[in-house]
Amino acid sequence: MASSSLTVTDNRTGKQYEIAIKDGAIRALDLRQVRVSENDFGLLSYDPGFTNTASCRSAITFIDGEKGVLQYRGYPVEQLAEKTGFLETAYLIVHGELPTRAQLDHWADEITRHTMVHENVKKFMEGFRHDANPMGMLVSTVAALSTFYPDAKNVQDQALRQLHTVRAIGKVATLASFAYRHTLGYPYVYPDNDLSYTGNLLNMLFKMAEPRYKISPVIERALDVLFILHADHEQNASANTMRSVGSSLPDPYSALAGAIASLSGPLHGGANEAVIRMLQQIGSVDKVPDFIRRVKGGEAGRLMGFGHRVYRSYDPRARIIKQMADQVFAVTGTNPLLDVALELERIALQDDYFLSRRLYPNVDFYSGLIYQAMGFPVDMFPVLFAIPRTVGWMAQWIEMMQDSEQKLMRPRQIYIGPPRRDFVPMEKRG
Ligand code: CMC
Repeated sequence: MASSSLTVTDNRTGKQYEIAIKDGAIRALDLRQVRVSENDFGLLSYDPGFTNTASCRSAITFIDGEKGVLQYRGYPVEQLAEKTGFLETAYLIVHGELPTRAQLDHWADEITRHTMVHENVKKFMEGFRHDANPMGMLVSTVAALSTFYPDAKNVQDQALRQLHTVRAIGKVATLASFAYRHTLGYPYVYPDNDLSYTGNLLNMLFKMAEPRYKISPVIERALDVLFILHADHEQNASANTMRSVGSSLPDPYSALAGAIASLSGPLHGGANEAVIRMLQQIGSVDKVPDFIRRVKGGEAGRLMGFGHRVYRSYDPRARIIKQMADQVFAVTGTNPLLDVALELERIALQDDYFLSRRLYPNVDFYSGLIYQAMGFPVDMFPVLFAIPRTVGWMAQWIEMMQDSEQKLMRPRQIYIGPPRRDFVPMEKRG
């Protein structure tokens, strides 16, 4: 008997089965042989929320949730945040290796050249209501990109996959800033090829009538670090959406729009926005104990920015962001909600409710405080998450397209509805 296997006895029949274990997993399809009769469909695994199901083999991001470890292509995120720029990490995530100087220059040049959008995209955006939510605008305009690039449907073409990856990373920043300017009623600012990725984004967002918008190097670097920390996070809800939509082989912009929609929810990338609203609702440090009491009693919803499906310890991204906050606040002035957040963390991390469930601050707990200090309105926070995560989504999509084991993603269900019955004419119903 092979040592890397599982022996299972089906107590319904007394039969034994040997199921191979590879990389700490069994293949769900191997359960199909476990049957009570010839006509039996075979055993299924039932896993709502995919809490214990691996959907793919991936070489992009590694997380050890117990130890609070996050690595892109094997490199610890702490080292990447300290020593690289966003586009360098983006190259690593998409291509698998850190770039040489020439490769990085070429990559940055390509992405910069693809930040321009067709003038019709601008007209398209002008059609949104003046107070449209920027995340909703981003979902729609990214989906609309597929109509501007019909060749994106050729998803089996590896060179085109690379081209559209560069395009998506370049254009998402422009679309995000157009969405922001639209909510303010300000004219859109076109990309400036002389600036860095994050410098250009800041320019497109905040430039007013001045001939040259002065970018703070501290804010530019902080945004770079925030973008590195948000660039990928293995099979999270939105990456899974990207793969799931992509598995029926539509163009990548359609899949990307689905991923952004998934990110927008408060349990995922919308949590950074929800944290600020929660802190505003709490109002002051003295109200924190009562708020925690109400969360525990189920009266105040969840403690937003706390807890994670994979991390059962402090999210390493939250630790870096918390350390960086002081540098940003030195330039922007502090965020008055910081004291409320620190007190919330202090009390929660002493409380048995949170300790026993292993709920610690996640990436969204402190990022919103920084974005707010930088001058962003709260409904832009999820958009600021979507920009760098586009790198991860595209890398996940490319990896899926190259994986010969991947198939149309189509889960099974356990049917619990009525058994077969005959149609009842209207006059005989009810
Ligand atoms: N506040 C209070 N209780 C919580 C929280 C929270 N933030 N998170 C989980 N719990 C409780 C939950 O009520 C449950 O308690 P019980 O066992 O008594 O029923 C237990 O902890 C386990 O929760 P779960 O819902 O089974 O865990 P999950 O893995 O499905 O949830 C989560 C993960 C992120 C959805 C959840 O922790 C949550 O809702 N957090 C708040 C939203 C948030 O900050 N999301 C951002 C995630 S990180 C950024 C990203 O990748 O998008």
